Amino acid sequence: MSILITGGAGYIGSHCCVSFLESGLDVVVFDNFSNSNPESLKRVEQITGRSLKIEQGDIRDQSTLETVMKRHACEGVIHFAGLKAVGESSQDPLAYYDNNVIGTHRLLSAMDATGVRKLIFSSSATVYGEPKSLPLTEEHSLNPVNPYGRTKLFVEDMLRDLAASNSEWRVGILRYFNPVGAHSSGLIGEDPLGVPNNLMPFIAQVATGRRERLNVFGDDYPTRDGTGVRDYIHVVDLVEGHLQAYEKLAKLPSSSNSFSVNLGTGNGYSVLEMVKAFERGSNQPVPYEVVERRSGDVAECYADTQKAEELLAWTADRNLGDMCSDTWHWVRKNPLGYAAESDSND
Ligand code: NAD
Ligand code: UD1
Repeated sequence: MSILITGGAGYIGSHCCVSFLESGLDVVVFDNFSNSNPESLKRVEQITGRSLKIEQGDIRDQSTLETVMKRHACEGVIHFAGLKAVGESSQDPLAYYDNNVIGTHRLLSAMDATGVRKLIFSSSATVYGEPKSLPLTEEHSLNPVNPYGRTKLFVEDMLRDLAASNSEWRVGILRYFNPVGAHSSGLIGEDPLGVPNNLMPFIAQVATGRRERLNVFGDDYPTRDGTGVRDYIHVVDLVEGHLQAYEKLAKLPSSSNSFSVNLGTGNGYSVLEMVKAFERGSNQPVPYEVVERRSGDVAECYADTQKAEELLAWTADRNLGDMCSDTWHWVRKNPLGYAAESDSND
C-alpha cells in the first residue's frame, strides 16, 4: 500500500516525502511540475536512501488519477497540488478556481471511484481573513479576503460535506500559518520562480546578494515595532504534523470523521525581528527600506496551537534560529535553486 502525495515535488510536498519515506511508508508523487522541478525528488531520494514512485500528471485529469491510484494500490492521499500566489489569484481568479477547486473535485471523485477515502488537505490560515481575536482558534469565523483564500475555503466546505455524506471518509484539514526553512541537509528547500512574494525567501535572496534590499511593507501597524507579525513555522515541523494527522485519520470514529487543525507555533515575529534573526543566522547584512503597506495584509496573525497538541499530539519544536540557519544553508548550497542542477544535466 502506498500514499499518494499530490504536489509532492513542491516546497512543502518534497519535505513531506522525506518524512513519510523516513517513517517507512511507500510514496507515490503526482505532480505536473508547473511550479517545481523534478530535481527536488532526486534530492528526496538522496536524503532518504529510498526510492519514490513518480507520476507526472494534472489533478484535473480524473481518469489518470484513478489509473495511478489503482496501479500503486494507494490507501490515502496527502493533497498539496494547487496554486498559491495571493496577488496572482486576484489577477487570474479562473486559474485558481480551476486548479484548486475543480482540481480537488476531480481528485475527490477519483478517490471515491477507487474507494480511497483518506485525505489530508493543505489549507491555510488565510481562510480566517482579518483576525477578530488572537491567537486564532479553529472556531474563529472563516472569511477569506482574496480569491486564493476563497478557493481554500470552498475546498474545506466540499470536504466537510463529503465527510458528512459518507462515514467511510476520513478527512484532515490542516491550516498552515507561515511555513519557512528547509531540510537540514540543505538539499531541498523553497525555490520560488521569479521575484519571491513571501518574506523569508526574499530575505534569503538579499542575504546571498541576489537582490539589493528588502522592501518592508509598512512600519505603522499597531505592533511592537510597527511591522507585520506572523507565525513562522519550520517546514520540517509542519510536515511532521502531516504524519501525525495522517496516523490520526485511521483512529477517527465514523461519527466524527473529519477535523480542521491549525499548524503553527503560536509565536508571532515581526518583519524586523525576522530580518535581525536572519542576519544572526547567516552572518550577512540584510539591507531594507520601509515602503507602503501591501494591500490585503493584516497587522498580526498567529495560531492557537492547543487543538493540534490535544488531537494530534504534535507541537512545533524548531525555533526561529533553526528556521533562519536552515534557510541559509539551503540558499548557500543552491543560490539558483534547483534550476542550476537541472540545466547542468540537460
Ligand atoms: P508549491 O507551489 O511549491 O507546490 C505545489 C506543487 O503542486 C508544485 O509541485 C506544482 O507543480 C504542483 N501542482 C500545481 N498545480 C497542479 C496540478 N493542477 N496538478 C498537479 N500538480 C500541480 O507550493 P507549496 O508551498 O509547497 O504549497 C503546497 C500547498 O500548501 C498548496 O496547496 C498551498 O496552497 C498550501 N499552502 C502553502 C503555504 C506556503 O506558505 N507555502 C501556506 C499555506 C498553504
Ligand atoms: C501570505 C499570503 C497568505 C498565505 C501566506 C503563505 C498575502 C496577502 N498573504 O501571507 O494568504 O497563506 O503568504 O505563507 O500575500 N513582507 C515584507 N516584505 C516582503 C514580503 C513580505 O515586508 O517582501 C511582510 C508582509 O507585509 C507580512 C510579512 O512580511 O507582514 C509576511 O509576509 P508573507 O511572507 O508574504 O506572508 P503573509 O502575508 O502572512
